[in-house]
Amino acid sequence: MRIPVIAGNWKMHKTVKEALSFLSTLRSEPLPGNVETVICAPYPSLPALVEAAEGSGIGIGAQNLHWAEEGAYTGEVSARMLTDIGVRYVIIGHSERRTYFAETDESVNRKGKTALKHGLVPILCVGESLEERESGKTKHVVREQVVRALDGLASEEVKGLIVAYEPVWAIGTGRASTAEDAGEVIGFIRRTVADLYDQQVAGEVRILYGGSVKPGNIGAFLAEADIDGALVGGASLDPESFRQLVAAA
Ligand code: G3P
Repeated sequence: MRIPVIAGNWKMHKTVKEALSFLSTLRSEPLPGNVETVICAPYPSLPALVEAAEGSGIGIGAQNLHWAEEGAYTGEVSARMLTDIGVRYVIIGHSERRTYFAETDESVNRKGKTALKHGLVPILCVGESLEERESGKTKHVVREQVVRALDGLASEEVKGLIVAYEPVWAIGTGRASTAEDAGEVIGFIRRTVADLYDQQVAGEVRILYGGSVKPGNIGAFLAEADIDGALVGGASLDPESFRQLVAAA
């Protein structure tokens, strides 16, 4: 039985003060206990959020990391720096990082390996562009991204990670995928994991949908058998709307 995950990706939003105010509102009422609730925030807010989330069951995540242990990489943050402050999750290969910061399947693979080595849970993002979808390449693109991201990972490592299927055209556009389409692609991702590993690994890995998820449409996504939760951008910025998303799972 896979525990559902609702993960907020705040992207480049919220100062430390704003982050703490969000968390205190979110904690003002208990959250359901059967959902893994995660907030992926900008680096400056992470230490304060980890501290403020203590005892709440809310996991705190980063939105990126560097694959190297340490070194001359100006502006970068290592896995050890994240675990040192109590961060437990890290988003890897978000399409915004692939598009604006030249992340490749290779860098995604290296970052995933480093995250797992340090005990962080990678939230590995894959998804096709509008052009790729319209030319019928969705499954081909997503399969390639999954195969390359998982290259060299052991079964036990794959079981512990989270995949997020985020069609690029659905991100921040208000134009979510239909639940049926998302369920089909996510089912396909699960079968890809079964091809690469086995049914048991495929049955354990959590796969989320992301792209214009809101309290009003999350129910339809969660009703799909293969969808284990959501990675949410815009609707995760408001504590009440985030609470509704968690409560739906
Ligand atoms: O990582 C979450 C994301 O890219 C989806 O963003 O704003 O469409 O929910 P949004």
